[in-house]
This record gives sequence, C-alpha cells and structure tokens, in this order.
Amino acid sequence: MTSSVPRAKMKAHDNKEDATMRSQGWYGGEGRDPFIHRAWMRRGVPDHAFDGRPQIAIANTASDLTPCNMHLNEVAEYVKQGVWEAGGVPVNLPVVSLGETLVKPTAMLWRNMAAMSIEEMLRANPIDAAVLLGGCDKTIPALLMGAASVDLPAVVVPGGPMLNGYFRGERSGCGTGVWQLSEEVRAGTLPAEEFERFDKQMVRSKGHCNTMGTASTMGLMAEALGMTIPGVAGTPAPDSRLLEAAHASGRLAVELAREQRTISQVITKESFHNAIIALAAIGGSTNAVVHLLAIAGRLGIDLTLEDFDRIGGAVPLLVNLQPSGSYLMEDLFRAGGFLAVLDQVTDLLDPDANTVLGQPLTSFLGGHTVWDRDVISLRENPLQDEAGIAVLRGNLAPRGAVIKPSAASPELLTHTGRAIVFDSIEDFHARIDDPDLDVDASSVLVLRGCGPKGYPGMPEVANTPLPPKLLREGVRDMVRISDGRMSGTAYGTVVLHVAPEAASPGSVLGLVQDGDLISLDVPNRKLELLVSAEELEARKPAYRLVSEFAKADRGWQQLYIEHVQGADTGADLDFLVGSSGSEVTRESH
Ligand code: FES
Repeated sequence: MTSSVPRAKMKAHDNKEDATMRSQGWYGGEGRDPFIHRAWMRRGVPDHAFDGRPQIAIANTASDLTPCNMHLNEVAEYVKQGVWEAGGVPVNLPVVSLGETLVKPTAMLWRNMAAMSIEEMLRANPIDAAVLLGGCDKTIPALLMGAASVDLPAVVVPGGPMLNGYFRGERSGCGTGVWQLSEEVRAGTLPAEEFERFDKQMVRSKGHCNTMGTASTMGLMAEALGMTIPGVAGTPAPDSRLLEAAHASGRLAVELAREQRTISQVITKESFHNAIIALAAIGGSTNAVVHLLAIAGRLGIDLTLEDFDRIGGAVPLLVNLQPSGSYLMEDLFRAGGFLAVLDQVTDLLDPDANTVLGQPLTSFLGGHTVWDRDVISLRENPLQDEAGIAVLRGNLAPRGAVIKPSAASPELLTHTGRAIVFDSIEDFHARIDDPDLDVDASSVLVLRGCGPKGYPGMPEVANTPLPPKLLREGVRDMVRISDGRMSGTAYGTVVLHVAPEAASPGSVLGLVQDGDLISLDVPNRKLELLVSAEELEARKPAYRLVSEFAKADRGWQQLYIEHVQGADTGADLDFLVGSSGSEVTRESH
C-alpha cells in the first residue's frame, strides 16, 4: 500500500522578490495598473503576497452538480496550506465542472468547452503555476488539455475513487453494477425493487466511480504522463493520504513556478508511450484513447491511433478490476497501488519520460510490493497476455475504430453476422424490446448517429443493452458496432469510435443496411462491411439517419458541430488544437 507521498526535493528559497514571475506582469512595479491589481486582491492577504512570490491557481472542479468532485474544496484547502508553506500564494479558481451522470446530452459535448474556459482563465489571470483538481471522467482531461495549451507549470491532484460498493455481499462497482443488474431486471431474474435499493450500497462515500472506468483511468493516466507526484493517483477520496498529497502538491507547484518547469517539459512523446503501456496493464477505459489523443494534440505531439495498438497491443493485463475483473479501486490501492503495477512493466516503460518532480517516472519504480496477487498479478502470471486496446481498420472504419479485447467475449473476437441497424439511440430504444425484431445471437447490432458531430458530443451509448428475448435465452454478449463511445465501466464485444462517423460525408457506417454481413476480425485488426464497392457507391445514407443528426443553430452546440474533429484524432475542436502559450500583451485599464 502506498504509505506516504514522495517528497519533492525543495530548494532553499529566500522568498525575495522575483521579477521573473509571470504574475509580476500584473502586480510588479508602480503606477495605476499594478495599484489596481494589488488593491482589489488585498482582502486580508499580506503585503508580501505581491512581492514576486509564485501565484498558484487551484483549478478546482468542485461542484455540487459533479458529485464525484464534491470533496475537492476540502482537497483545495490542503493544497493552499502547502502553497503558503512553500512561500507561494494560493488562489482558488473554480472552473467548469462536468458531472458524468447529470450533464445532458452528454458530458463529452462540454469537455472541449471546459478545456477552453480553463485555458483562457489560466492565461487571463496573474498565475505562475496551477494545481489541477479533477476526478469525474471529463474533468482531468479538460484540465490537462486547457493547461497544456497555456503551457504553465502544473501538477494534477486526482480526487480519487469512492470506497467499494457491494450487492448481496459481493463487490459491485458503480456503473458496472448498474449495467449488470439492470440487465438482470430486464431478463426477469432480479426483482426491480431490489435493484432500486442498490443505490446506497453502490455509492458509499465521496470520490469518483470505483471501477477501472474513465475517471480511475484518467487519474492513473495523469500519473503515467508524469503530471502527478508519483504514487498519488488512485488514493481513495476518503483516505487521509489524499490530503497529504494535496499539501505536497501545493508545495511542489511553488517549486514548479520558480523553476519554470512547464507542462511541455514534463509531457513528451515518451510520456504517452508510458501512458499507453500503463493503460493496457490496468485494463483502462477506451475513453482514454480519445482523451490522450486530444491532450497530445494540445502539445503538438504526434500521437496516432496506431500508437495505442503498436505500443500497448502486447502488454499483459495485470489489474483484476471491474468491469472486466472482480475488484475495485480501493482494492488496487490496498494491493500496492499504481506504482506496484508499473513496477511489473518497468522494462516496457520509456526511461526518459519525465515527471513533475523533474526525475523520470522509472526512477520512482522498483521495490513496490504487490500485497494481494488476486488484485495485481505478477508479470509472469498475467490475467491476459495481450490486453492493449486494438485498433481496427477496414472499409467500415477507414480512419479506425477501437475495441477493448479484455472486456470482450473471446469467442466473439472473430465473428461474421447480419447487421441490425439503428439510426440513433432513440431509434434503438424504440425497437430493441420489440419481440418481433428479427435478431438472433449471431446478429451484429449497429448503432450510428452517435459520433462527435452526429449526436452531438459522442455519448457513451455504444454498449447497448441486448434484446430481452435473447437475454431470456441466456445470451449475455453480442457484437455491437458504433461511432459512439462506451462507458469505461461497461463491458462486452463492442467496437467503438468508428471513424469517419455516420454524420461525416462519405462515411460507410452511414450506408450499412439491415441484413448486410459485417466481419469482425480482431486478431487481424479488421472490420469489414461485406458489400461490394460498386453497391456502396450506389447507396446513399437513409433519410431517417440524416434526419436524426444534430442541427444546432446557436451557442456552443453550433460551434461544436462546425469545428469538432473525428474521434480518431481526439474529438477536439480544430481551432483549439495546439498551444498558444501564456503570454498576454494588452493592458486592461
Ligand atoms: Fe463521475 Fe463515474 S460518474 S466518475
């Protein structure tokens, strides 16, 4: 178990005025503007707050409407203590927060908006470094994307997972348990009242989802990228060591500001190599593919979909967590934590990848004991030999699609079946329970119109429920294909992120018809629609499909639809890719 937070080696600093601090562009010198900047910030802070000390923003996604991040105000208080202690000045900066379970139509629609607002507020204010507090799925990606585009020094404190949930005495992860038990209700094998009573057993404490879902994955990805103090990610939200880590991260942010160690000096192509290795070893969420591509895009790092397969494809699965395994994040921490996992694959990691502490990630590895080998497997006895995310190509996905083999049924990884096509999630819900639906266990369920542009926002709907009549026959998995995403807490033989999406001109996904044969061949990385090129040439997308696409005429949704890129490059907006740095040139008064 992680016992303490590695200490940042702090340099002695006399706190004397440092005119090189970015914030001195606001507070330094004499005259009307510095006077205004200092005067309005007085409110109880000492004179020396403006003498050149690092101003540390706590980019804080705490919100009562983001229940997974509700506790981050408490975490922020410990960050503040660390900042003051190290001679900096902390400022709380509430930023756009996205709660996965509440925000409609899908939190992913707003990830880029959150990232844009974080970027602009970090740049617009007198800030020398940032501590990024996130938790729920989109919050850490948005924080990293926004901060990367400003390229200030920054450190992430992941808010951590909630405690284990239980159903009938067995571990049941939030998200995963909902998918499993709601299917049992639909199959008639679980009373609906018992399912309704599951909620308080499932969500027992502060923190984000406790499975290896997207939030857990992205917290660990932040650490694999070098953006946390090593050993912090995965600390359960109620664990006092999270507060200790928050304090240390506050201290570190002050040092980062003084040393001007910006994000681009920490995250490099080598960091993504390590993140992809780690993603496979932990059996992480497929959503990490989209988020890592987007973060790389902000930093101008050439990361491709193929890199995930090339680097991670042969990495063994070592972590036995739901949705594909048995345990939950609290167990992973108890069993030795993320560093104990990385210890097992040290030889696969890039020794040059840096961390916020200025030392390579691999320098923090070695000697991390695995205390429970049911939870963390040793390298010589992995849960699966090859656990990476597979990238598929073919005429149905010329720009790629992904599948998580570790969450799929092995017998379905090579499969050919008849397509049953749904043009939207509404179309799906309207017809899936129809006893006359012409479907059997070998059919391939195609759900389209769920990509970034078409929905809009690429919702997590691809892991569609199965037809009740097949559930009653005992069928628990089928091949499903979609241009949407899948919750990181979900499982099944689901092909995701098909690009180009159905709403993109020329998409073959938009041309699939009921009864077409589709061939899935994961070992050979193929996804083919078995229809001739001549016939596809003659087809047009059905009116029913096109009429379902999003048609926003104002606000963020319009901006999003006009500018969002494909899932294969991270679904960022075209004008947000890259970095603009932190410079602000115009005076405000
Ligand atoms: Fe927030 Fe799952 S709903 S992490």
